[in-house]
Amino acid sequence: MNPDSAVVTGGGGFIGSHLVDRLLEIGFHVVVIDDFSSGSLANLEAASRFGPQLEIVNQDITKEGLFQTMQRVAPRYVFHLAAQSDVRRSIAEPLYDAKVNILGSLNVIESSHRVGVERLVYAASGGTLYGEADNSLLPIKEGTKHRPLSNYGVSKKAVIDYLAAYSTLYPLEYVSLALANVYGPRQDPKGESGVVSIFAGSLEANQECVIFGDGNQTRDFVYVTDVVDAFVKATQEGAGGVFNISTSIETSVNQLYREMARIYGCSKEPRYLPGRVGELERSCLSNLKAIEFLDWTPKTALAQGLSDVMAWVRDKR
Ligand SMILES: NC(=O)c1ccc[n+]([C@@H]2O[C@H](COP(=O)([O-])OP(=O)(O)OC[C@H]3O[C@@H](n4cnc5c(N)ncnc54)[C@H](O)[C@@H]3O)[C@@H](O)[C@H]2O)c1
Repeated sequence: MNPDSAVVTGGGGFIGSHLVDRLLEIGFHVVVIDDFSSGSLANLEAASRFGPQLEIVNQDITKEGLFQTMQRVAPRYVFHLAAQSDVRRSIAEPLYDAKVNILGSLNVIESSHRVGVERLVYAASGGTLYGEADNSLLPIKEGTKHRPLSNYGVSKKAVIDYLAAYSTLYPLEYVSLALANVYGPRQDPKGESGVVSIFAGSLEANQECVIFGDGNQTRDFVYVTDVVDAFVKATQEGAGGVFNISTSIETSVNQLYREMARIYGCSKEPRYLPGRVGELERSCLSNLKAIEFLDWTPKTALAQGLSDVMAWVRDKR
């Protein structure tokens, strides 16, 4: 095993590329495994300044070649973020979703076990894991029943269960991070979790922002570099646990719009369209377990994070 080496599956994606930046900064040799189906090399532009400390392997996690790469690299840690991460696509194409998110993940887990990885840190989905929980249970704690209501939620949950099973069968440690709604620079403006980047893009282009439903639906928005902190902490703490990575603060889509419009100096009203079927009304996750056992806290206030996203969108244009 190479003690300074880490694999990031999905390292070309939104969250993965920020994690790659951080791991390089703290001295890891980082190997990105990504098929670039939704990620991009552009996301790794900043990381490329680290030269040979970064290796990029264009590889599909569902394919057999993954094991050969893992064997060659023999990483100490695997951060598993590669996924089909679109809830609506998981409903339209359930077999594809299961192939990538279940079989692909199992390939990552099995390869990690076979090459003697010390710990695997998994990007689970806190927004879908608990389904439509009773409002009296908000913010939702990890002990709440896992009851995903979409194919994506089910496939992401299955991996948590596989990891728990593997850790009892073999000496492979794991931590599952149940991420709330992550936002930040490099987020692709599509899908529900991309609402911040969608609004930022529309405001910057001077276009009307669209809100589905009455805008009173709430989400728990956590900033991407805070999420990266949690991934790094999870290499040292919390073995065998599921941890919500969230702010424990509910923000409605209307509040989000008003805050972003204020930062941008826009006085236009958003356009309201009918709500989308299957959307959660309220979502907010308790982060007390991560604070206690991962020694982690979210540091970025929403207004700061939103300003950073808007500055990034402006730069990109
Ligand atoms: N963004 C959020 O709010 C959020 C919330 C909860 C959980 N997550 C999870 O975090 C992880 C990262 O999410 P993201 O928002 O950065 O998404 P993303 O789509 O930007 O990143 C996923 C990456 O995986 C890669 N990938 C997809 N299929 C692959 C395959 N078969 N082989 C190799 N690589 C493949 C994509 O090219 C992409 O680079 C995902 O596992 C997602 O389920 C994200």
